[in-house]
Amino acid sequence: MKLHPIDMHNAITALTCALDLVGVDEVRHGKRVAVMARAIALQLNWPEVECLSILYSGMLHDCGVSRIHEHHQLIETLEWDGAEDHCIRGAAYLSACQPLAHLSAEIRYHHTRWETLLELPVDHHIRLRANLLYLSDRIDMLQSPFLNTGQILTEYPAIIAQIKSLSGILFAPELVDAFAEIADVEAFWLAMEPEYLDEDLRSIGSHIPATLLDIPALKELARLFSRVVDAKSPYTDEHSQRVAHIARQLAMDFGIKGYELEQVEIAGLLHDIGKLRVSEDIIDKPGSLTPEERATMHRHSYDTFRILQRVFEGSKIPVWAGFHHETLIGDGYPFKNGTKKLDLECRIIAVADIFQALAQQRPYRRTMSLEYILNDLQSRVETGHLDAKVVAKLTENAELYYRLAVA
Ligand SMILES: [Fe+2]
Ligand SMILES: [Fe+2]
Ligand SMILES: [Fe+2]
Repeated sequence: MKLHPIDMHNAITALTCALDLVGVDEVRHGKRVAVMARAIALQLNWPEVECLSILYSGMLHDCGVSRIHEHHQLIETLEWDGAEDHCIRGAAYLSACQPLAHLSAEIRYHHTRWETLLELPVDHHIRLRANLLYLSDRIDMLQSPFLNTGQILTEYPAIIAQIKSLSGILFAPELVDAFAEIADVEAFWLAMEPEYLDEDLRSIGSHIPATLLDIPALKELARLFSRVVDAKSPYTDEHSQRVAHIARQLAMDFGIKGYELEQVEIAGLLHDIGKLRVSEDIIDKPGSLTPEERATMHRHSYDTFRILQRVFEGSKIPVWAGFHHETLIGDGYPFKNGTKKLDLECRIIAVADIFQALAQQRPYRRTMSLEYILNDLQSRVETGHLDAKVVAKLTENAELYYRLAVA
């Protein structure tokens, strides 16, 4: 089964929707920063490729933020002491992702004052790009209380004045000037409304030549996003990456190969991407969850399914990833699909997910021994929740799988 060609613009835009979920109620931050940064770059007559790459940088600039508390801090104060951490993390994730590694340096400095940047041994071109992200990010922070209320139309002159007062200190004067020139009209601010924003991003995508991502590039992108998801909690460190390894090995044991095998691995890497929307207060909670908290937690596999449908249209990846909490008897979630609709690949990812999770510490329990885990999986086979053949395959080679889960 071949994977349909995946266009980079669509993939990044769709994956940004996942990053933006960390804001919970305050979504689309990345997209707004992206569109504003590009508009300022256009005003400065930057070359077309620079305007486009600053758009992608804007969308991805907060890939170092997985936790809702951190996101809140970042949008509440103009300068926050802890801001640098997510810049360092985000830059590290990007530099490990070959198709996006060129954006790493500017992400590293996207909360650094202009006056400080001038003293750092950073390429001037990178300084400007990093500072453009910082400027757009702070404009969004200042406009966020008035978003979608109509109030922005009376408030924007004050925002422009505040940004101007920080020229040469926080922001490069030439960037501030370009911003002030284009932002002194209602249209600049109204374009930030959700439907117009999404429309504009689609329209930009349809006016540029498609950049198709091959399997290695897609895997790099998937690995980047798996890191963001796993960083959500100390208890889920490397969870997605390990689930992907286990699922790949199980698929190989069943004779799955080629494109199909690669897609299993990508589905494993991204199966929990919908968790970006779940507050860490719930993920890290030591006790049992309230019904509301459980419902919030349970929606993550549906969000995974929808996000991946946008990225991998026409592929099985959304199903294989999004069905990882479904069971054979149909009492899982969110579709309550039973045997008939669960491909072998869905069953593999479901087993890999539980196996790895049990081998890892959780806030409410310690790490489980291999013997305990195998008994637990077997009892889930007996209750009709997990596939007997998949669990048997894993049990045959239990030591190897345990090493993939924890070593
Ligand atoms: Fe940001
Ligand atoms: Fe999950
Ligand atoms: Fe998981």
